[in-house]
Amino acid sequence: MVNQQNFPIGIFDSGVGGTSIWKEIHTLLPNENTIYLSDSKNAPYGEKSEQAIIDLSIKNTSFLLKQDCKLIVVACNTATTNAIKILRQKFDIPFIGIEPAIKPAALKTKTNTIGILATQGTLNSALFEKTANTIDQKIIRKEIIGNGLVNLIEDGKLYSSEMTALLKSYITPLLEENVDCLVLGCTHYPYLIPQIREIVGHKIQIIDSGEAVAKQTKAILAKFKLQNNSTLKSKHEFYINKNKATLEMLVQSEKENVRFIETDF
Ligand code: DGL
Repeated sequence: MVNQQNFPIGIFDSGVGGTSIWKEIHTLLPNENTIYLSDSKNAPYGEKSEQAIIDLSIKNTSFLLKQDCKLIVVACNTATTNAIKILRQKFDIPFIGIEPAIKPAALKTKTNTIGILATQGTLNSALFEKTANTIDQKIIRKEIIGNGLVNLIEDGKLYSSEMTALLKSYITPLLEENVDCLVLGCTHYPYLIPQIREIVGHKIQIIDSGEAVAKQTKAILAKFKLQNNSTLKSKHEFYINKNKATLEMLVQSEKENVRFIETDF
């Protein structure tokens, strides 16, 4: 029997944002090999139809399975909320998904008002609605579609006047609406935390799901006895179907044993 334990964890996102999840996974599970797929040519997913998101998610998963991945992390809220059910039906492999952390926010809020910054595809999905119905219904949800943010991040314009203006237009109203928790419902957005802090100061708690996804990955590896027990240094491959400059910039500090591959898939 093939020893699957040394096989890589597959991770995909519509673009470079899922590297925020890759970092959490790599920190918690430094022994694991990983293969990351950035479908930047097709980003953003958030404005696409549910069927288009499902088709791209199937294509991304098929690519990762050809590379012998033992488990797939869907490091994209939009792909998870629109496609993970179909992926689980279609492929016989464990999947971990990511959803906006509205449940933790609902437990933390003191003002009973939370902000959720996410894509249109996530906020309009049936899975998001289902999760939203499980939280205390007296909590007011201020949902904001972060149109344009993913494009700017993909272009490497994290610190730019366009980014500041866009973030201010989305977030400043929350300060007047008594919001005390802001959920970042897109894996690109943790890269904007310093810029968001500039706008909200410490009046609002910023909540994302990255650490929870890494913990869940660890638990599922243990459940299926898939933990890598090799003593070799782990290897990491990043595939991207567009210019790799932003990807390299975001992952830079972790460069050892990391390869960036620009290719079509
Ligand atoms: N990182 C993706 C997410 O978490 C970005 C979505 C997009 O491409 O619009 O939803």
